[in-house]
Amino acid sequence: MNCIPVNEPFLTDQELQYVSHCVRTGWVSSAGRFIDEFEERWAAYCGRHYGITVSNGTTGLQLAVACLKLKPGDEVIMPTFTIISCAQAVIYNGGIPVLVDCDPRTWCMDVLHIEKTITSRTRAIMPVHIYGHPVDMDPVLELAQKYRLSIIEDAAEVHGAEYLSGRHSGRPEWKRCGSFGTLSCFSFYANKLITTGEGGMVLTDDPALAEKSRSLRNLCFQPQRRFYHEGLGFNFRLTNLQAAMGLAQVERIEKIIERKRWMGREYTVRLADINGLQLPVEESWAKNVYWMYGIVLGKETGLDAAVFAQNLRDRGIETRPFFLGMHEQPVFHERGLFLHERYPVAENIARQGLYLPSGLALTEEQLSQVCDAVHEVLT
Ligand SMILES: Cc1ncc(COP(=O)(O)O)c(C=O)c1O
Repeated sequence: MNCIPVNEPFLTDQELQYVSHCVRTGWVSSAGRFIDEFEERWAAYCGRHYGITVSNGTTGLQLAVACLKLKPGDEVIMPTFTIISCAQAVIYNGGIPVLVDCDPRTWCMDVLHIEKTITSRTRAIMPVHIYGHPVDMDPVLELAQKYRLSIIEDAAEVHGAEYLSGRHSGRPEWKRCGSFGTLSCFSFYANKLITTGEGGMVLTDDPALAEKSRSLRNLCFQPQRRFYHEGLGFNFRLTNLQAAMGLAQVERIEKIIERKRWMGREYTVRLADINGLQLPVEESWAKNVYWMYGIVLGKETGLDAAVFAQNLRDRGIETRPFFLGMHEQPVFHERGLFLHERYPVAENIARQGLYLPSGLALTEEQLSQVCDAVHEVLT
């Protein structure tokens, strides 16, 4: 049986042309015109001054948190419902992640829970936009201003998603995700809207942070005195080959988003009649790019996500489970973190949620097959 994969990228001749240019000219490592152009174009698209490419989204977060110069025990607030990269970035930099539960509709961090977790050790908030839907950013921005905190925005999953900022102020304005953080991070892994295979980018408007990020990315080499080091950095560089792929996709980002929004609409229309199935939302203040089409099984279905996934696998359809919250990870319990903490919304969706095939190469026929199979199992 042919399996419908949970993700398949959609690449074109343009990527091939740009990558071939790198091969022909020999610019295959971490310098070259595509690096500069990719950084400039993506930063401009997101409304930012500076883009710093990195080797992946995880290293982007680590770099961004390194820029905060945390002291041991400093705290960074983040959702429990996220990838481990977020918590790791803080821990590797000597800090402590502090968790909040997520909103049951958008599955993004519940911004109403943030303020009660702020202490004298809090240095930053790390909002993570989930599965294509933005976090409600205005309250996050207000808290950051009130308590003088930095924002490390994780926009890995929301290329091109938009948020209606200032909707209560009389001056509402649509802004792209990635435009809100002191430092904002993207991933360009193969399942992302824009992919460079592996890759990522950090965006900022602050020239000093941009310079710091570039230096940390490249082992803190100094332009004037190359092998003389005043800081400990990383090798988190992206290659020109990868940037060439990325640039080709930035040039057609609107088409990519259109395709994802088509997929989101189609799934929603075709699955809306199933009782007890929670589908992704698009809040009035958000433009969802449906990075992955997540669904949550209600108790009425009598199934959990693992059993449901097996049923779909039997019908040739691959899925992925939702994140398991950071507070449920043995690796953190061993370090004495999050012991006995409970986040009921995240715990429920971790067990009841999964995402359906959502890649850019998904055809209408495949989407129909997925919806038929979901109906078959659930009705
Ligand atoms: C929200 C979020 N942040 C960070 C990352 C890490 O990105 P990467 O896989 O490129 O390291 C991911 C990966 O999918 C992610 O979903």
